[in-house]
Amino acid sequence: MPSSVLRVLSGEAVWPPPLWLMRQAGRYLPEYRQIRAQAGDFITLCTSPAWAAEVTLQPVRRFRFDAAILFSDILMLPWALGWGLAFKEGEGPVLPRFSSEADLASLSPASVAGKIGPILETVARVRAGLGPETPLIGFAGSPFTVACYMVEGGGSKEFARIRTMAQGQPELFGRLIDVLADSTVEYLSAQVGAGAQVLKLFDSWAGVLSPRLFERYVTAPTARIAAALRARHPDVPMIGFPRLGGLQAGAYARTAGLQGVAFDTGADLRVALPLVDAMVATQGNLDPMALVAGGEALAAETRAVLDAVRGRPHIFNLGHGIVPQTPPEHVAELVRLVRAA
Ligand code: CP3
Repeated sequence: MPSSVLRVLSGEAVWPPPLWLMRQAGRYLPEYRQIRAQAGDFITLCTSPAWAAEVTLQPVRRFRFDAAILFSDILMLPWALGWGLAFKEGEGPVLPRFSSEADLASLSPASVAGKIGPILETVARVRAGLGPETPLIGFAGSPFTVACYMVEGGGSKEFARIRTMAQGQPELFGRLIDVLADSTVEYLSAQVGAGAQVLKLFDSWAGVLSPRLFERYVTAPTARIAAALRARHPDVPMIGFPRLGGLQAGAYARTAGLQGVAFDTGADLRVALPLVDAMVATQGNLDPMALVAGGEALAAETRAVLDAVRGRPHIFNLGHGIVPQTPPEHVAELVRLVRAA
């Protein structure tokens, strides 16, 4: 019997819905903080297979989630392309700012295979540490979201630089997206080769684009990536997460031929789900702050998501990643609530 997550991704309405949580490995877990302290640097943690495999498995062991997600980061792809990357304490990721043809020429797709070895080794170790009922999700950032961090030089509130480049320098910007899309195909295909059974494309900032540019820089590259991976790995489903993409998510999933589409916290599933094809799995979208608050808020928000998705293929998840202040007992309570649905 295939795992419940794989059954949902093939279009089956499994009830209660299987669940895993975005950022299920991370600072809210004391056992993560301990290994994080030993590793010292976040990139060191991501490129040390024994540690990265252990933190991937920690939340699965503790909460019996229905899927594991590789412990890594979407910014490990630009890192593998030779673009600088540092994680500064309390500041998040810091990268050089991408702005020119010379920057484009400096990216090195040929170096990716040589640098991702430890990440693939992590995938293989995690797969070996999981039972057959728990699939391993491999992932990458979408070209647009990875480009956001490269063009802005890190996180941003307004994304003014990248939105201006996308509008005003379509030639340069389109070529950056193409290079990232091609590398993403190789990176995800290598993860499948090492043992990943589901793929997820994180497009955290998709929603900052106009609908016209969303089609060009979110939907179109996602469709290209998905088609290339389908040709190589026809049995490996892919989930897209066009965060803040609202009502465009259904068309995005259909155009790209995805098996799953994830919704963010603000998406009203009662409005959004009718726009998704019946056989396409949905995922989401509990407010991560309900998980911090716990109690009646957590129960009411969980019920609202469950009521909206009953009868369709759905994977229960958050609308965005777990935040570090989340009490682990609240996560255990959520698992209990969903399994009792
Ligand atoms: O979900 C998982 O458990 C797998 C691991 C994972 C991480 N990042 C680990 C991480 C995944 C899937 C990601 C994806 C990711 N990374 C996204 C897309 C999803 C989203 O949250 O929107 C984005 C935009 C990033 C980029 C990134 N990485 C930022 C902005 C930061 C700093 C913010 C923060 O939370 O510290 C990171 C660092 C990061 N990635 C941490 C973890 C556990 C925290 C680093 C630490 O432990 O010091």
